[in-house]
Amino acid sequence: MANHIKTIGVLTSGGDAPGMNAAIRAVVRTALGKGLNVQGIRRGYHGLLNEEIINMTARDVSDIIQRGGTVLQTARCSEMRTEEGQRKAAGILKKYGIDGLVVIGGDGSFAGAQKLSNLGINTIGIPGTIDLDIDCTEYTIGFDTAVNTAMEAIDKVRDTSTSHERCSVIEVMGRDAGYLALWCGIANGAEQILLPEEHDYDEQKIIDNIVENRKRGKKHYIIINAEGIGDSINMAKRIEEATGMETRATILGHMQRGGSPTCKDRVFASIMGAKAVELLCEGKTNRVVGFSHGEYIDFDIDEALNMKKEIPEYQYKIAKDLSI
Ligand code: ADP
Ligand code: F6P
Repeated sequence: MANHIKTIGVLTSGGDAPGMNAAIRAVVRTALGKGLNVQGIRRGYHGLLNEEIINMTARDVSDIIQRGGTVLQTARCSEMRTEEGQRKAAGILKKYGIDGLVVIGGDGSFAGAQKLSNLGINTIGIPGTIDLDIDCTEYTIGFDTAVNTAMEAIDKVRDTSTSHERCSVIEVMGRDAGYLALWCGIANGAEQILLPEEHDYDEQKIIDNIVENRKRGKKHYIIINAEGIGDSINMAKRIEEATGMETRATILGHMQRGGSPTCKDRVFASIMGAKAVELLCEGKTNRVVGFSHGEYIDFDIDEALNMKKEIPEYQYKIAKDLSI
């Protein structure tokens, strides 16, 4: 059933991700193309609660498709987790005449969108996170850029690791999700991949493996360690002590979240942004845009939030098989 939406609001929330700007641009231009007003909400839910709301025109999103970060800025906001905060946010959206809200972010941001939807605001989520950890979609905006950034950085560390015949513990982002680590592990030909989903790894086994590999003439030993395991600096010290192989830790950190989005991120963001507006115009609410089996889909937020993305076992097995 079509809904008579007049004004769409858009915000970015949680950790930023390359491609968020392309998504904002698509939301704004699709909505304007349909004759709707668009209000940009700065600094995520924090900005919403502080009424940081600006009118957006087509020109406001010129020259941003190629830029990393988010021009609307982003934030984490504890007040939005409270019922009082959620009611206040819904009241502000109503006050500004925003009858459809697009939330670009990860599952935390979707939880906020779900609460607003329960309070009568039409909401659509767009998956924007470098972690690729939202189960209802095969793709999340930002992953491709981040994984390529990390891969290139790890190639560089590998060069110096080989020259010095060292072991390198390289920490990539992913507090709860190991996708970046897993993909880099395969793409960079790492000897070990440590994932937050597999906390019970055996450090002694890694140490034994390093010693074995040394004997077999390997010139370096790359360990990709996800942030969720962490402790990379101490891990490097323990490995050096136990193996006698010089070991260095490199924490890639927030550089993985920045930079100009890849073609894939720009295209996914553009299509998902446009689709979010179309869904609102069709009268849909409490949905997340996703990509599944070659198609752009939409998914119920309640169901999406109840799903947990697992590490693909086959991919993980191949990563291990190739690391001999
Ligand atoms: P991401 O969206 O990347 O997963 P966070 O988990 O930090 O990032 O969530 C972003 C923001 O979404 C939080 O700072 C908070 O304002 C809001 N949020 C998270 N969880 C909830 C919740 N259960 N209810 C309402 N709002 C939430
Ligand atoms: O954007 C997702 C993510 O990069 C996680 O992998 C990481 O744990 C988290 O954000 C760290 O975010 P921040 O340091 O900005 O709080």
